[in-house]
Amino acid sequence: MDRVRQLKRHIPGVMEKSAADLDMPLPERRMRRLRRTENLRDLVRETALSPADFIYPLFVAEGKGEKTPIGSMPGIFRESEATIAAIAKDAAQSGLKAVMLFGIPDRKDSIGSDSLKSDGLLARMIQRVKEACPDMVVMADLCFCEYTDHGHCGVLDKDGHVDNDATLNNLGQQALVAVRAGADLVAPSGMMDGTVAALRHVLDSGGFSHIPLMAYSTKFASHFYGPFREAAGCALGKGNRKTYQMDPANGREALLESLQDEAEGADILMVKPGMPYLDVLARLREATSLPLAAYQVSGEYAMIRHAALAGALNENDVMMESLLAFKRAGADLILSYFAPQAARLLGR
Ligand code: PBG
Repeated sequence: MDRVRQLKRHIPGVMEKSAADLDMPLPERRMRRLRRTENLRDLVRETALSPADFIYPLFVAEGKGEKTPIGSMPGIFRESEATIAAIAKDAAQSGLKAVMLFGIPDRKDSIGSDSLKSDGLLARMIQRVKEACPDMVVMADLCFCEYTDHGHCGVLDKDGHVDNDATLNNLGQQALVAVRAGADLVAPSGMMDGTVAALRHVLDSGGFSHIPLMAYSTKFASHFYGPFREAAGCALGKGNRKTYQMDPANGREALLESLQDEAEGADILMVKPGMPYLDVLARLREATSLPLAAYQVSGEYAMIRHAALAGALNENDVMMESLLAFKRAGADLILSYFAPQAARLLGR
């Protein structure tokens, strides 16, 4: 049977007709019919962005100085303890509902002890933002790379490897510092095994069973973090993060990592970076019913911003297309340095 006749067999009613009828012209599916006008296109659109989808990552340096530009991320600044309140208010004004805070302390040491103190930078920056914007969902990134002098995401053992379980102990302390200071959610990004279970236990026994955990559950050892490391001052002295962050080649393992965090009690899962890993995001969407976040990381931001500055593409158009792609692939939440710019465009 030729291809046309084969197809016709699948059209309801056709099979009952005589063989002669099978030679009628096929009803033609014309995909362009629903694209003819803007209103038609609006009616059949499957995915939409809203300012409530975004989480705005903010860098906060110690002290009351001026904000300082980050060379590799034009338009993004290291705020200070004096400037962070205004930025948070601005973010709220643009329609954003959540920020993620990254601290850059003056005093770094081998274990990141500044972040374990109730009056350290981690605690103070959370308090500043909560005072300025009580309704803002303030998320605390929990990790040690910004707070240690070696730049690794935890405590080192005598051979210079990150000691998983010793780091978990410190992460528990860090989580308590963050929530006592007013953080609404904690987001461990260090990729230690057992992090979610350990933090859930510490929070629950400390009277914080109502605080959700967003796990950086599938985080790749990515070169797209380059600009962040300048921004947060956490370039590695030596070595790399490949013994705890994931191999970019591994898709199945990416699902295992996230599902493990779900089993340990994570409330929100994440895939990071974003755009190069949309396949992972889409597969994870099929595998879990938890809310999913995607992180459009510093290198992704830098690529779009620098290309736009060079006149190679239209920034707002490319920005919105890239953010929409996360939603289409299955993200409920999007961490992006473009958050206020996108929220303003959507709010118009
Ligand atoms: C670790 C952390 C990193 C990022 C967020 N949290 C850096 C890393 O793992 O090396 C990267 C974010 C970005 O590139 O925008 N605390």
